Amino acid sequence: MQVENQELKQDILPLRAVSHVEIYSGNAKQSAYYYRQAFGFSFVGYLGPETGVRDRVSYVLQQDKVRFILTTPLEEDGIIPFLSKHGDGVRDIALETSDAEYCFKTTVERGAVPVREPEILEDEHGKVKIASVATYGDTIHTFVENIDYTGPFLPGFSAMPEDTLARPVGLKHIDHIVGNVDWNQMDKWVDFYLDVFGFSRFVTFDDNDISTEYSALHSTVVSNHSKWIKFPINEPAKGLKKSQIEEYITFNNGAGVQHVAIETDDIISTISKMREQGVEFLDIPESYYDDLLDRVGPIDEDLEPLKKLNILVDRDDKGYMLQIFTKPVEDRPTLFIEIIQRKGAESFGKGNFKALFVSIEREQERRGNL
Ligand code: FE2
Repeated sequence: MQVENQELKQDILPLRAVSHVEIYSGNAKQSAYYYRQAFGFSFVGYLGPETGVRDRVSYVLQQDKVRFILTTPLEEDGIIPFLSKHGDGVRDIALETSDAEYCFKTTVERGAVPVREPEILEDEHGKVKIASVATYGDTIHTFVENIDYTGPFLPGFSAMPEDTLARPVGLKHIDHIVGNVDWNQMDKWVDFYLDVFGFSRFVTFDDNDISTEYSALHSTVVSNHSKWIKFPINEPAKGLKKSQIEEYITFNNGAGVQHVAIETDDIISTISKMREQGVEFLDIPESYYDDLLDRVGPIDEDLEPLKKLNILVDRDDKGYMLQIFTKPVEDRPTLFIEIIQRKGAESFGKGNFKALFVSIEREQERRGNL
């Protein structure tokens, strides 16, 4: 704990963690059902006409420390242009802080574009101070300072009775949130987090350009000093295939959040449940598992369930990790969700780009198509 506090002192902003992720959705009512039944979130708070708000509805969904807010517009306002441009997607990566006003003032002084001036929100459960600044694309960061609030989420939201529809799968907390930016824009946005937010480059041992030809992307990770907030930033790169980042940029009409990675401490059980509940994941060629143990060394898990569930494994100098990616969670090939279990590793799975590439070629060879 002492070490963590020392690290926190180096931060220029008093940020603790991701407070919540707000997703703008064309139909929050139906999306909420999907996240409750398929991903296991509980519906804990609501804001809309019934609570005196005329222009939007918001559903607060929570599983352990992960909070997704789904918001749909009811009237012409700033949400509709976002939805017509990007489709459903992440609007706000909100950050928990002990001083929202200071975060706003400091980041704006350092060059952030202000979105919402500091404001105290209040209801019978107490007060919260919030303020927002812009980041890449139409994404924003809201600084959330809980002054003395004891309600379900933020002032104005009503609490919901216990959610009998939710089917929890063991998701614990947000591990990292990835932003995709356009060609040659990565350095600009990395510098934004270094200069404006006072973050550091999060260097991992797999940081090298060998993966670029396989992944067709450049990626740099920035984090606050406690490492509780980690933001990889991707840009497209010329590789052996068309960049998936380029496809994202085309369908999202610009930069935005590519994926939210959520940690579990039992990925086999989590993914078994999610699959039963209808979540679709990327298909992995069987041959990926042929040389898995040669690549990553000994692991605690049996190979069979990993293979059956299509879970990927990667190792760095600190340990290993297991990960899996959902298919996009909307019709555009934009936002998706990663589920990750860390067993020491601090990196983000770059080794899998090459491993998947090689295994796809091996399958093509088996079919005589190479
Ligand atoms: Fe990731």
